Parts: sequence; C-alpha cells; structure tokens
Amino acid sequence: MSTQLIRPARNFQGSVTLPGDKSISHRYAMLAGLAEGTTRLSNFSTGADPHSTLGCMASLGATVRKVGEGPAQVIEITGTAGAFGQPEHPLDCGNSGSTMRMLSGLIAPHPHHFTLIGDHSLSARPMERIRKPLAAMGAEIHLTGGDGEKGGHAPINIYGGPLHAIDFTTPIPSAQVKTAVLFAGLQAEGTTSLSEAVRTRDHSEHALRAFGARLHREGDRLSIPGHQKLHAIDATVPGDLSSAAFFLCAALLFPESNLILDQVGMNPTRASLLDVITALGGRIKVLNVEEKHGEMIGTIQVNRAPGGLKGMEISGALSAQIIDELPVIAAIAPFTTEGITIRDAKELRVKESDRIALVARNLKAMGATFTEFEDGISVPGNQQLHGAAIDSGTDHRIAMAFSIAGLRATGETEIHGAEAAAISFPEFFSLLDSLSER
Ligand code: S3P
Repeated sequence: MSTQLIRPARNFQGSVTLPGDKSISHRYAMLAGLAEGTTRLSNFSTGADPHSTLGCMASLGATVRKVGEGPAQVIEITGTAGAFGQPEHPLDCGNSGSTMRMLSGLIAPHPHHFTLIGDHSLSARPMERIRKPLAAMGAEIHLTGGDGEKGGHAPINIYGGPLHAIDFTTPIPSAQVKTAVLFAGLQAEGTTSLSEAVRTRDHSEHALRAFGARLHREGDRLSIPGHQKLHAIDATVPGDLSSAAFFLCAALLFPESNLILDQVGMNPTRASLLDVITALGGRIKVLNVEEKHGEMIGTIQVNRAPGGLKGMEISGALSAQIIDELPVIAAIAPFTTEGITIRDAKELRVKESDRIALVARNLKAMGATFTEFEDGISVPGNQQLHGAAIDSGTDHRIAMAFSIAGLRATGETEIHGAEAAAISFPEFFSLLDSLSER
C-alpha cells in the first residue's frame, strides 16, 4: 500500500487534457472485440479497469496491440467477427464492475463455458442484477453465494448458448445492467426491449450505433434487433468527466482558481455534474463543442464565481446521474456556506467500497461533523478541516476525493492506499500537483 502526502494549496490553476473516459473505453473495447476488422482507439483510458477489459478481450480471441507510448498511444483491437473463443483461463475483471457486468451480457450468447473472477472488492459486489435478465433470455448463469440480490456475487460461471429476446424494465438505475441486456440482445433471437425509470448514461447506445448496430429509442423504451453484426471503427475517446470532477471540485475551493479542461466528454447523460458545479458556485465557460460517434466533446474553463461556495441538496434522479462524483462532492461539502445533503444514493454502499461509510469515516478523521443516512449523508457547511490519515479502503474515488479536501485543510493529509487512484486515473497525483499552487 502506498501513501501520498497532500499539502494545503493557495490556489488551483492550469490547463489539462484528461485520459479517455473509462465508461466509453470499456464499451469500445468490448464491441471492438466482437466486431469484424481492426478498431483503432486513441486516448483510451489509462486506468487499470479498462485494461482489465482489454485483457478479457484477448482471452476471448481478439488481438489487442498497444502502438506507441503515452498520450499518443493507440490501442488496436482486431475483433473475433462475432465468434468469441473458449478462454483457457478465467476472465479476470480485476476491480472492474463494469467489465464483469457488461461482459456477462456480451459473452452469454456464445457457446462456451466462461468463468468471471475479480479482486476482493469486486467479488463482494451484487451480480444478481445481471443474472436475472440474462437468465430470462435463456442463459445459464451461476453466481457464488446463491442467487438473490443479497447473496449472488463473483466468481460467475456462464454456460453460454443461443438467447432469445425479452422485454425488460431495469429495477435499479444502472447503465451496466442496461448494457448487459443490450449487448446480449444484439446477438439474441428477436428484438429485445428495455425501459429504464431513470435515464442512465447512454454511451452503450452511441457505441453500438458507431459500430454499425441498429437500435431504436421511443421515449423511455429502447429496442435492439438481434443477430446483428458489427464493424470496426477508428475513434478518439473523450476525456473522462468523472476524473475531471476532482479538479472541478478543487477549482471550487479557491477564489482565484482557473482551470481549463481540453477535449472532455460532455455527454448530456453525464453532464448534470456541470449543473451541480454551477449550482455550488462554479462558473463554467464552454469554449467549443463537437460530436464524435454520438459523444459530445468540449473544452471548458472553470473558475469560482464571486461570493463563495453555496450548498445544495442532491437527491432523486440526480443522485443516480452523478453517483461516481458524489464522494468528492461530499468531501468538499464542509467548505460550502450552507452544507450539502445527499439522499437516494444507497447504491454508493455497493460500489468499489461502501462509499457512504468511507466518506463518513474520513470526514470524521479530518474533524468534520455530519449525519450519515442509509442512503446518503448530510454535511453542514462552514467547517474547517484538519489534515489527517485517510483510509482509501482501496477505492480509487475515495483516495482522490480526500486528496481534494486536503488541499484546503490545515496541515498535511496522508492518503493511505493512494495507489487505488490508478484504477481509473493513474496520472491523478502528478496532475494534482501540477495544478496546485503552494
Ligand atoms: C458505469 C455505470 C455506473 C457507474 C460506474 C460506471 C458504466 O454503475 O457507477 O462507475 O460505465 O456504465 P451502475 O451501472 O452500477 O450504476
């Protein structure tokens, strides 16, 4: 376990280009592995999670090459033209829930036996949510610990074979579950339909279309005809807005801040984060926007509006839409004037860690008061934090969230388990240092 020292900063400014979006990288890698031809992906996520997906694609028979180094690296994936092979070893999803859940849908229609494994954290996460719809499509899937939302987790055994279409309503807002069903539906007999009560990130819909699939949306209902073939693409992955969130929140903490984020993904189903940053007292200028493969990409400039940081309540659909950004928003809540209350975010308890418990524990270590709920946390404003020993719980977003709080604490903050940041954002600490003025 590595420890990272965070010293308080005087200001936060500079310009950065962020590595590619984690969600989009997973989807492009998976669809490239299934497609016919060679896909070339620039600005692919540098995070360990999408690289777990690449490893799985190679185990399934795709050829994965990394051409060049650093920001100019291109990932080339020659797909299996619709026929995944029998892997020789279990598919190792590492820490990545996205890999495990979305991949299950992608491989279930293939006539092989697959075992999906993950690390300690991933092996405790709920998998019944994907077993149920895929079983309804005809897949034979065995979870460890039995079926049911409480028990079922990895290792997962899938005995794949022909699937049939279903009409499915997602019981919890989850883009991963939606994607598992769409990826299975793409290869099933008949047309699969899917409705979601809260509209979740739609990267899969855009990615499927980019790779040549037909897909229809009518209101809240998506439908995807089966037995479709995909073709390879050339694409650049937009910068990761969830990684940007840490720096956006840092920019809110300093009255003279000025941050420019180049080529960042601004997909409307992810961009509620920008509304929250604005509501809290950020001033965001969008310098240019373009669309590539259905994804909006823009350059944004952020600084803090005069008058300081306001507070807000985050609940309902908004909590689901910015679920990955809630830990850092909670971590800066003590520095607002009115405090921040987060509700309807029970899903945080089954992410890479119990994120509500870890946010609470680390806020407490830094001297903050708060009220913890089963589905969120309420943090009063106008609180000063002191540097403390932070436990990341080996959760990347916890390590990064409390590094941001540490910029405004008195004294030094030690982030224990800092290496977890590499799950989504290996460059985090060096970029944080280059943007922090001391
Ligand atoms: C993701 C969806 C979300 C999110 C995760 C990435 C995706 O998870 O928290 O980090 O890429 O589809 P859920 O689908 O479990 O809500």
